[in-house]
Amino acid sequence: MEMVKLRKLSFSNAYSSHSVYSFNYIVYICICLLLFVTNANGFSPTIQLPTSGLFRNTSYLSKTLVLNINDFGAQGDGFTDDTKTLEDIWTLACSSLSHSKIVIPAGKSYLVRPINFAGPCHSKVTLRISGTIVSPRDPEVWKGLNIHRWFYFHGVKNLIIEGGGVLDGRGEEWWARSCKINKTNPCTHAPTAITFHRCKNLKVRNLTTINSQQMHMAFTTCRRVAVSHLNVLAPADSPNTDGIHISASKRVKLTNIIVSTGDDCISIVSNSSRIHMKNIVCGPGHGISIGSLGKANSSAYVQNVSLDGAYLFNTENGLRIKTWQGGSGFARKIKFQNVWMKNVSNPIIIDQYYCDSSSPCPNQTSSVSIDSVSFRNIRGTSATEVAILFACSESFPCRRLYLKNIQLTSASGGITRSFCWEAYGKSSGLIYPAPCISSGEMIIGVNVKSNSTQRHKVDYALL
Ligand SMILES: *[C@@H]1O[C@H](CO)[C@@H](O)[C@H](O)[C@H]1NC(C)=O
Ligand SMILES: *[C@@H]1O[C@H](CO)[C@@H](O)[C@H](O)[C@H]1NC(C)=O
Ligand SMILES: *[C@@H]1O[C@H](CO)[C@@H](O)[C@H](O)[C@H]1NC(C)=O
Ligand SMILES: *[C@@H]1O[C@H](CO)[C@@H](O)[C@H](O)[C@H]1NC(C)=O
Ligand SMILES: *[C@@H]1O[C@H](CO)[C@@H](O)[C@H](O)[C@H]1NC(C)=O
Ligand SMILES: *[C@@H]1O[C@H](CO)[C@@H](O)[C@H](O)[C@H]1NC(C)=O
Ligand SMILES: *[C@@H]1O[C@H](CO)[C@@H](O)[C@H](O)[C@H]1NC(C)=O
Ligand SMILES: *[C@@H]1O[C@H](CO)[C@@H](O)[C@H](O)[C@H]1NC(C)=O
Ligand SMILES: *[C@@H]1O[C@H](CO)[C@@H](O)[C@H](O)[C@H]1NC(C)=O
Repeated sequence: MEMVKLRKLSFSNAYSSHSVYSFNYIVYICICLLLFVTNANGFSPTIQLPTSGLFRNTSYLSKTLVLNINDFGAQGDGFTDDTKTLEDIWTLACSSLSHSKIVIPAGKSYLVRPINFAGPCHSKVTLRISGTIVSPRDPEVWKGLNIHRWFYFHGVKNLIIEGGGVLDGRGEEWWARSCKINKTNPCTHAPTAITFHRCKNLKVRNLTTINSQQMHMAFTTCRRVAVSHLNVLAPADSPNTDGIHISASKRVKLTNIIVSTGDDCISIVSNSSRIHMKNIVCGPGHGISIGSLGKANSSAYVQNVSLDGAYLFNTENGLRIKTWQGGSGFARKIKFQNVWMKNVSNPIIIDQYYCDSSSPCPNQTSSVSIDSVSFRNIRGTSATEVAILFACSESFPCRRLYLKNIQLTSASGGITRSFCWEAYGKSSGLIYPAPCISSGEMIIGVNVKSNSTQRHKVDYALL
């Protein structure tokens, strides 16, 4: 304890003369002091603070500040509220001059209420979750708080989340109250378990998230994200429990992901590009979906999306692109390959007439256009007779569709077939059911072509 005090003093003295950094340091030191004072056990040996020599010696910058939640008074009994402790540690980690690592150790369960992790942080932060984090069960806890969020990271750069632990949303009460389950209830929102908003250089790996209140993990307006070895698990009948939702984000890589929930395994919407998925297991769930796009006449620009290697089973859809009528923009340069399906309804589906509202959606001429979409090496069984369905817009037909080596037989021993509407492109190799896309020029008038060309020019300018 004596040593620590000395270190602390010299630490603060050293900094006081460096006014340019003083604000951060003061915040940092205050929090250190506060945390040390509130922690009855005193200084934790795992906290490695810079030593007195640091003023002339910056080697400490390469050291990692390790912050174990247990050393700051967290109970980890699954009952006591540990939110404040985690918040304080985040503030400390986020203002640290050197790389900091927050450790949530294995073997315990920490109750955490809705929590904000705000950036920007001074240095790289690693959040190592090896134990379990549980959410309050009672939706009333969200009264007066943002109902969309449980864990909310925003404006953070260079964050790593790892550790093999579990985030448990304990969403049962939210599901029971959902209008999809209890039809007498009004439709309201429910929290996404983990949201990343405006994050950059983010790595999420080796984590399990279960029973989310609504969606499990969402990335909105993020850049350069790598997610790997993630397991997402919720009952097949839990409402709107999407696995991974990507919106307005660029350069996202998803590798080795297992999703088993009550909604889309992965959904990609609005202005997202360079999204690459590899080795995805999905089922039960609603499949892998681009869209819905263009709802309420909105614009969407999705491009450069690839999926390489997936196993889908008992899902409501397989590989899907869905757009509302009346939207604008495009979904293009999309590749799906090496996918094995088992008992999947609508294994391959493009639906430009998507309508998920209680009243029927009127026909409209404008649409999010669909261009350059390929399906290669897709095999397995279909739970529905129509295994390949392309229902494209009349004013903006699907263009440059490409099918190669497709084999989708019936899961129940019947036949399968393809359905096409305004679908243009080509196919090669063996395709079963026989493809129906037209290889010829579009029969539609020149008018539409020039309109869509014009629109694409505008779109390029927007990007
Ligand atoms: C800086 O401090 C570290 C210990 O904190 C020491 O090992 C190293 O030799 C010092 N470097 C210089 C240049 O003084
Ligand atoms: C996941 O984390 C656990 C605990 O830290 C570790 O033992 C395991 O090797 C990690 N797995 C991967 C794939 O990184
Ligand atoms: C449905 O919700 C209403 C109002 O919240 C509630 O009174 C009713 O008990 C619920 N029904 C079921 C089956 O949970
Ligand atoms: C996509 O980008 C366009 C053009 O920048 C913008 O008008 C539109 O609102 C964006 N849509 C979404 C859903 O972010
Ligand atoms: C979309 O545009 C159509 C045609 O201009 C219009 O009739 C409709 O009301 C619009 N819908 C919304 C939700 O704005
Ligand atoms: C899409 O990918 C192509 C190469 O495949 C690249 O040239 C282009 O810049 C990418 N566009 C976006 C918006 O990521
Ligand atoms: C196949 O999928 C259908 C529709 O989702 C489902 O009803 C059926 O139980 C599934 N069959 C098997 C063997 O899992
Ligand atoms: C919309 O268009 C489709 C295809 O042409 C047609 O079958 C349907 O009747 C139309 N619906 C309305 C409401 O006009
Ligand atoms: C194409 O553009 C022309 C002139 O701007 C317009 O009159 C026509 O309705 C458009 N066609 C479609 C299918 O949107």
